[in-house]
Parts: sequence; structure tokens; C-alpha cells
Amino acid sequence: MSDARIAAAAPQAIRREDYRQPDWLVPEIALDFDLDPAATRVRATLHVTRNGAHDRALVLNGDGLEAASVKVDGVAAQNWRMDGQDLVIPLTGDAHTIETEVVIAPERNTQLQGLYASSGMLCTQCEAEGFRRITFFPDRPDVLSKYKVRMTADKARFPVLLANGDPIAQGPAEGGRHWAEWHDPFPKPSYLFALVAGDLVANTGSFTTMSGREVQLGIYVRAPDLPKTDHALHALKLSMKWDEDVYGREYDLDVFNIVAVDDFNFGAMENKGLNVFNSRYILADPDTATDWDYDAIAAVVAHEYFHNWSGNRVTCRDWFQLSLKEGFTVFRDQSFSADQGSAAVKRIEDVRSLRASQFPEDAGPLAHPVRPDEYIEISNFYTATIYNKGAELIRMMATILGPQKFRAATDLYFDRFDGTAATCEDFVASMEEAGGVDLGQFRRWYSQAGTPRVSANLVQDGATTRLALAQTVPPTPGQPVKEPMVLPLKIRLFGEKSGAPLTDEQLVLLDKPEQELRFEGLPERAVLSINRGFSAPVIVDANRSAADLAFLSAHDDDPFARYEAMQQLMLDTLVAAVTTGKGEHGALIDAVRNTLTDPSLDRAFIAEAVLLPSDSFIGDQMAVVDPDAIFRAREALRADLGNLLEPEWRAAYEGARANRFEYSPAAKGARRLKNVALGYIAASGAADAAELAYAQFDAADNMTDRQGGLATLVNGTSSLREKAIQAFYQRYAGNALVLDKWFQTQALSSRDDTLAAVEKLARHPDFTLANPNRARALVGAFSINQRAFHDPSGRGYRFVADQLIALDKLNPQTAAKLVPPLGRWKRFDADRAAKMRGELERIVASPGLSKDMFEQATKSLD
Ligand code: PHE
Ligand code: ZN
Repeated sequence: MSDARIAAAAPQAIRREDYRQPDWLVPEIALDFDLDPAATRVRATLHVTRNGAHDRALVLNGDGLEAASVKVDGVAAQNWRMDGQDLVIPLTGDAHTIETEVVIAPERNTQLQGLYASSGMLCTQCEAEGFRRITFFPDRPDVLSKYKVRMTADKARFPVLLANGDPIAQGPAEGGRHWAEWHDPFPKPSYLFALVAGDLVANTGSFTTMSGREVQLGIYVRAPDLPKTDHALHALKLSMKWDEDVYGREYDLDVFNIVAVDDFNFGAMENKGLNVFNSRYILADPDTATDWDYDAIAAVVAHEYFHNWSGNRVTCRDWFQLSLKEGFTVFRDQSFSADQGSAAVKRIEDVRSLRASQFPEDAGPLAHPVRPDEYIEISNFYTATIYNKGAELIRMMATILGPQKFRAATDLYFDRFDGTAATCEDFVASMEEAGGVDLGQFRRWYSQAGTPRVSANLVQDGATTRLALAQTVPPTPGQPVKEPMVLPLKIRLFGEKSGAPLTDEQLVLLDKPEQELRFEGLPERAVLSINRGFSAPVIVDANRSAADLAFLSAHDDDPFARYEAMQQLMLDTLVAAVTTGKGEHGALIDAVRNTLTDPSLDRAFIAEAVLLPSDSFIGDQMAVVDPDAIFRAREALRADLGNLLEPEWRAAYEGARANRFEYSPAAKGARRLKNVALGYIAASGAADAAELAYAQFDAADNMTDRQGGLATLVNGTSSLREKAIQAFYQRYAGNALVLDKWFQTQALSSRDDTLAAVEKLARHPDFTLANPNRARALVGAFSINQRAFHDPSGRGYRFVADQLIALDKLNPQTAAKLVPPLGRWKRFDADRAAKMRGELERIVASPGLSKDMFEQATKSLD
């Protein structure tokens, strides 16, 4: 294909600077659905009003729709036309009633956007631009409407009919059908519209709000899943209370419903009064859900609930402002989770996931600012940068303002922008005004991509100690030159001899390329603790010795900094081992032993602290990633740690053996440490390790222990391995969420035959690309398996590309999300890089490529 033809076929980029107010507003809409999986008739009545003085026609977005009829003010219109997918209607007055009718086929909707069928039910997903696949509408978040919804459906197949807002009326209809009407009194953008029809049962409850209103709560699932909904319902009540206590935000409708669906592109969706969830973030019981699942369910339930204020009551003006709702809401759910258990462990987990997903994104071809300047397909911008880095920005502002002013600022923001579609700038301006601070330079966090790097050098010279700080922000695509950022760094000095703090903790705002701090008359040699609590999302190079890091891992009073010191010590040790082939690890072994046996530490913290950094994070520290050398060095260190500390691991394992499942921070911590210890016992090569793992697997009364035992066996060579894989499969046959774990555990195996095993699993009768969870469990997990994916043959790359090309035909949104691992080619040796590029080129050249994949793959080639 010639360049000119590629350019002609290339989808257009949308630019933030091109934002214009909507030409027409739609204060009210009535929707009438005649639901049927094969052919659903949608009648829409829009009350439209001209916005400002202009003579432009009404443009209603559509995607795959055909207008069966168009009426203006009750009369069949003749003068409408199609402009591509959109319906264009010239109008003479300033206010009109528009009626349209379309027929759609939910059962043929494999993209899972718009109205689709999943396990016998019908449901919708509209964010970001799915509403236009249901009916013609100005499908943009700054058009807010009051919705009235009427649904008619077969009563036997779809006994439950739900939509946003409050139920108004219901009744029988002809031919075994019935109808229901729902009204949502709160104006909302189309992306928050939802309906669900299905054969569902509800776990119900109620919540009395701070002003004494009673809200009816319902978690809707298929009947067999009902026993698995208590945890989600409980989390919902905790979230409602927490948002009142911490942000003063009360729920505003009489009902709040959640529906679990099996086929879902993301985690969950915050539709007003009717959240729709991926069933993996609702369903839990001890036999099928891990502690990770339980925690994630509570976090996602909280996240979607919190959107009722940060997203729904105050929504986004345009999709470039996506982090306005997502960054803030992630920050809110992180704070909620921190308040439910160990705040330190929660912070460690959040930083680990930021480093695993956002840092590489920020350092690669898909790097973009938290408030992007352009996109081709907005679905590609539901990223770790928008969500997790966005949350770090809110956290930094909260740190700079302090808790009281931060609360005053969020109050101001909610009050001022309630009922409107706002911008990131509106949020920052509220912080500035209520906080009494100047955030002028801080705003660069919204516009500059890339992870800032800080170097910190502590030099003690007689009575004077100097801390030299310097920052740089690396170039990113489209942004070759960067300005200095405002980096809030929490700092404290500790005495090497006494182990005691030599200073108070201080918050340093590093806002210049270089800055120096002085300390006078410190009584002994000082060790630097910096970026405590991970106060800024940056990479710190503090030039500290192994002895200093070991010291901090034992003496720092900030638990995150303690964890961080150990991580840095592990990283330094591993990077030295990878690059030189050997490494001195005496300081590390002692530090791990000390942490493991420190009676003052809780088990969840110990488990996090003694875990080695992942292969991919080690690779991120290197100029050219050598996956084989990293794997060997990490395995060798794991074996040494396992061997040298075997009695300690066994003691930790025994001490953490719980005999009855309980979901509490202490019990979770015990299981976490037990499974980490099991991994080290296996790494030591101990003869009984496989029996230990199998016994745990077999006798477990909970999924955390069962999957932990399985994972250890799956990485090993014992004959018990196959037995466990089979037993697990038999036990959970028919349970889709647990079979996902079965696929995922095998795809993540560190064995050298994993590539072949995964190719085979892709042909397993239970494997399907049609279900996003299943696709991610095998293909997504495999593509982050550094050893197998990067097999020197290039077969791992080819496997993933084949799967993505096939998946793109069904579900472009989910396929496009899986491109980034192939896009990391620049980080690898020439041979691997060429093979990865080759697969990206094959993707770009495949016929009928979606714009989702086009954007991800072409940007990844640059
Ligand atoms: N807005 C949802 C959330 O974070 C995510 C989502 C985006 C879900 C797009 C579906 C489609 O909370
Ligand atoms: Zn969200």
C-alpha cells in the first residue's frame, strides 16, 4: 500500500484545542425499547434547543445505525441526511422535538459497546461512545439530559428490567411481554445511560444516608451466583458511609443497583444509579475468590460508587478531561481501601502497580500526558497514566494542601461544578482557591508526559550536611523538551549509629532543575530517607550504599520507605548480577532475615518487603533488556535466599498457617506471607517442597491458598504438577472466573516450556476470545511473562499478534489494550526488536483493522 493510501485510510485525530461548545442541547430525552436479542426497536424522543446564535444543523452521532424514521415536531421529516455515520437534520427554530427509530441486534454485538447480550441477559455499555450504537444522539459528555426510559420485553426471559434513576411503573403487555419505566431526575451525559434486562435475582439491603434518607440497594446476578454477593453488598455500604464521612458526599437517589455481567471490556461502569460490573469484581466466596479478588471487589465497588460525585454529579467537559473523574476517583478508592486495613501495605501495592504499568507506559511509544492533547480512539486512553498517574497528581495536591485545606477544596469543587461538565483546570483552580496556594507550575503535571527523575546526593562535611537535589524529565513522543516540575518530596535523615531520626520529616518542593538543602550540626553520619510514602511519582537515584539501604530497611519509621529501601537493595543486587554475572548479596540476605524475623512487623508488610522485584521491573532499570540473564539472576538470588534462610522461611510458613478461612487484615497477611514463604522454600530446591505445595493446594479451604499451591507447582517440575492442574480443572469445571485463574496461572509459569503450553491452551475447548476475561487470562497474562513472551525464536510475539488480529475482528477495544507489550521493542536487543516490529507491522497490514488497533500499533512502531 502506498503512503498516500495509508494516509487517506488513516483515522483522524481529535484535538483538545479544537473543543467547541455543543451546537444543540438536549435537556430531555425519552427512550422506548422493544427489547429482543435479535432485533431491538429503539424509539427516541429528543427535546433539542439551539445553544447560542448560529445556523448550524443538528448533528446526531450514530455508529452502525440506520434511521427507520425521523420526525421533527411530530411530522415525518424529509430533509435529513447522513454524514458518514451521523444523522444531520437542518432545523429552523430554536427548540424542536426530534423522534427517531432504529433497530439494533444486541446478540450480534461482539464489541460489547452499546446494547449487547451476555449469558442470556441484555445490558448496555456506553462509555465512552457506545450510546451512539443504540440511538442517534449528540454523544459527547457536555450534553446533559434528563432521561425517561421505557422497556418492553418477554417476561419469561427477561423478568427483571432495570435502568438509571428510580422505578416509576411496570405492567403486563401482550404476547407474554411486560414493561417497566424508569426516570432519572439528574441530568446526565449519554455515556452514563444504562439498561439491563435479564433473569436475575438480587441481594438487597438498605442504607440510611447522613440526612436520614433510606436508599434501597440491590446486587443483581443470576440465581446460582446469589451466595457470592455478600462481600460486594457490604463493600457498597462501607463506601456510602466513607464518602459521607471523608468527603461529606451523600447519595442522591432512592435506589442504587449493581448488575454483574460475564462479558465486559473493563472492570465496571458507574452508570447513574445502575452500575454494571464485570462479574469478576462482584462474585466472591472463599472457595473461588482469592484475597486479591476480595480486595479488588471492595475497591471497584467503592470506585464506581464514588463516581456518583466524582464523575456523575460533576462530569467531564470532553474526553481529554477523563482524568478529572478517573484520577480523582482512583485516589478516592485508594484512600478508602487504605482506611479498611493496612494503609502502608495498600500504598506499597499501589506503587507496585504504578511501576508495573504506568512507568513503562510513560517511558514508551504510547506515553501521553494525564490530560492528553489528541487521540484517534478515546477507548485507548483508559490508561494507567489517566487513572493511576492521575491519582498521584491528586495525592500530591492533597499533600501540598494538607488534609483540611484539601477537604475545603474538594467541597468547593463539588459545590461549584455540581450539575456541570468540568475540566481538569476547574479542579486545579478549586485547589488553588480553597488551598491558598499557587499551582501554576504544578499544572505541568497535566501537560508533560514522562516520569521525572530525581537525583539526591547527601554530602556531610564537618558540621554542615548538604543535600543536592536535581530533576530531569525525559523526552516523550511529541514532547522533546521538558520544563521543570513541582515535586513534593518527603525527606528525613536518620543517624547511622543511633538508628534514631536526626531531623523531623520535611516536605521539600523541588521545583527547579537543581536545589540544595543544608543541615547544620548533625551529631553523627546521616542516612537519607527520601520520597517517603512515595510522595511524588518519580524515579529517585539517591546513590546510597547497600549498607545504607539495609540500615533503612530496618530503621526507617516510614513503612513505605522501609519497603523501598529493601526494593532498592534487591534491585541494585540484581542489576549487578545481570550485568556482571555475579553479585555480592550479603547485605541483602541479612536485611531479608531481619525483616522476616522482626516481631514488630505485621505479616502483610513482611510479605511485600521480602518479595523480589519482578523481571520486568528489573528490565526497566537496564539500557538493553536481557530477559534470559534477568531470569537467571533472579532465580539464582531466589535460590540463595531460599537456601540461606530456609529455617526462617519454614518458620514463617508454619507460623502463618491458618486453619479456618477468615477475611481480615491479619488473616490475609498470614496467607500472603505463607505463599511467599512457600515460593522461597520451593526456590531453595528442598526435596519436600512439591509435597508441601500439593498438600496446601489439596487441603485449602480458600482460593488464595489453593492458587498459591498451584502456582508453585506450575512453576516446578514435580510429577504433582500435572495432578494439580487436572484436579483444579475438574473441581472448577463450569466456573468461568476460576477457569480464568487456571489459564492465567499456566500462562504466567516461569518454566521453559510455557510458550508451547500456551499455544496449546489457546486450542483448549474452554478457551475463547469472545470473553474478554478469558482472552486477558491467557493472551494478556502470557504477554507479560518476560521469559516466555520474549522467547528468542519470536514465536511468543507471533502467537500474541495472531491472537490480537483475531480478537480485533470481535472486540477491537479489548484487542487494542493488549498491544503495549509488543510496543516495547526499543528496549530489547536488535534481534528481538526486529521480530517485535515485524509483528506490529503485520498487525497494521491486516485487512479491516479497527481504528483502536491502528492507533496503538502505528504509534508503537514509531
Ligand atoms: N468508567 C469506568 C471506570 O472506571 C471504566 C470504563 C470505561 C468501563 C469504559 C467501561 C468502558 O470506572
Ligand atoms: Zn472510574
